[in-house]
Amino acid sequence: MPPLGGLDQKAGPQLVKTPASTTSPAYLSRRAQASGGQPINYLMHTALSRPELISLAAGFVDQGSLPVAEVDDAWRTLAAEQSLAHAALQYGTTAGYRPLRELLLEEQRTADGDPPAMRNLTPEQVVVTAGSNQLLYLLADMLCDAGDIVLCAAPTYYVFLGVLKNLGIRAVSAATDEQGLIPEALEERLEQLAKAGELGRVRCIYVVSYFDNPQGVTLPADRRAKIVELARKYSTEHKIYVLDDAAYRKLRYVGDDVPSFAAFDEDDTVITTQTFSKSFSPGVRVGWGVLPPELVQTFCDVKSNIDFGSPNLNQHLIYEAVRSGGWAKQTAALCDVYRTKRDAMLRACERYMAGLPGVSWRHPAGGLYVWLMLPEGVDAGADGPLFRAALDAGVLYVPGGFSYAGEGEPTANNTIRLSYGVQSPARIDEGIRHLATAVAAVAR
Ligand SMILES: Cc1ncc(COP(=O)(O)O)c(C=O)c1O
Repeated sequence: MPPLGGLDQKAGPQLVKTPASTTSPAYLSRRAQASGGQPINYLMHTALSRPELISLAAGFVDQGSLPVAEVDDAWRTLAAEQSLAHAALQYGTTAGYRPLRELLLEEQRTADGDPPAMRNLTPEQVVVTAGSNQLLYLLADMLCDAGDIVLCAAPTYYVFLGVLKNLGIRAVSAATDEQGLIPEALEERLEQLAKAGELGRVRCIYVVSYFDNPQGVTLPADRRAKIVELARKYSTEHKIYVLDDAAYRKLRYVGDDVPSFAAFDEDDTVITTQTFSKSFSPGVRVGWGVLPPELVQTFCDVKSNIDFGSPNLNQHLIYEAVRSGGWAKQTAALCDVYRTKRDAMLRACERYMAGLPGVSWRHPAGGLYVWLMLPEGVDAGADGPLFRAALDAGVLYVPGGFSYAGEGEPTANNTIRLSYGVQSPARIDEGIRHLATAVAAVAR
């Protein structure tokens, strides 16, 4: 396997060869060059170019349960009323389709139990984007200059780490346990930065708060309250926001929901992002955020440079699906499908890995991922022996090391992110069996 080319690539002037018919090479900006070597591209390429592999890597969703009927119903509702269909097929507004924004705010308020802290939120604070990744990118771009700091969990969502790297933003991590980011560890990190005179560079604390990507852990309510409190306490030079990425909130298979960070936010410290990608369809690519009032105008200004409105038709389809109950129905059906797959993966881990010394894994209550922890010293990285052995055995995984920020906690290369989203229970079982064989061979 070729090395994961480009991951350590230094950004510097570089000329790129163009086809023979043109004479001058292309010049690429430093920022474009810094976007090279993203793990997501490499993993997707490997999965697509080797279809025989059992991919436990992709964060893709279950193919068979995509909401064809719900989308069909939503379109028929629009088409039945010409003015609605015309509006949906026209440009929309930068902030998004107003009725959808109203509905989404109501939905979040209800899910959070209508706490006093959320009573002042208005639909003007809700923005709709082309997936939540666009929202995360735009927020990073508008809150941070190059060299600024985003605090995060170790490990965290690796695509967002790529966004930060691309923008020249420092990601600094704090320790986690089986309940996610540890507030005391976060405070320690904030103290260190304060002592180093760098507190003024901290712009936000990024947390994947439900069944996180990659560990599958959910922050309990008391930690959420403490993290908001810490953001407030250390907002001495300027506001430090809590960026609550709730992408997996709707995919809960056991236990009770936990209120989002917004429920603990008395003074506009929290930014919430969510997406329909995991709970409905990634193909419609609709995400949304609830922003503190002071950020909305600038966010829309920055966004309007890019698209002056995310795909309007998709927003209308989503509106109909939410309004009609199609989304809720789809989410409930998905939870049944994924619960079965999660159980298949946990059973397979138990069956094939329980006997391997020093191997353990988390038991997620929702989401799409199981986090596997291997003995110290086992290198599960993309250029390491286990990744190669797993590919030879026919299985692809995401090296856990991708999910660690460059600063803060050390990278745990002896970790693996496994996804049960795409494969059938039988293939999940087979994939884990192959992986266990590779682990046993390499960890000897
Ligand atoms: C934690 C997290 N946040 C955000 C996203 C982005 O999702 P999308 O852009 O499809 O809304 C993902 C996708 O996998 C994710 O895992």
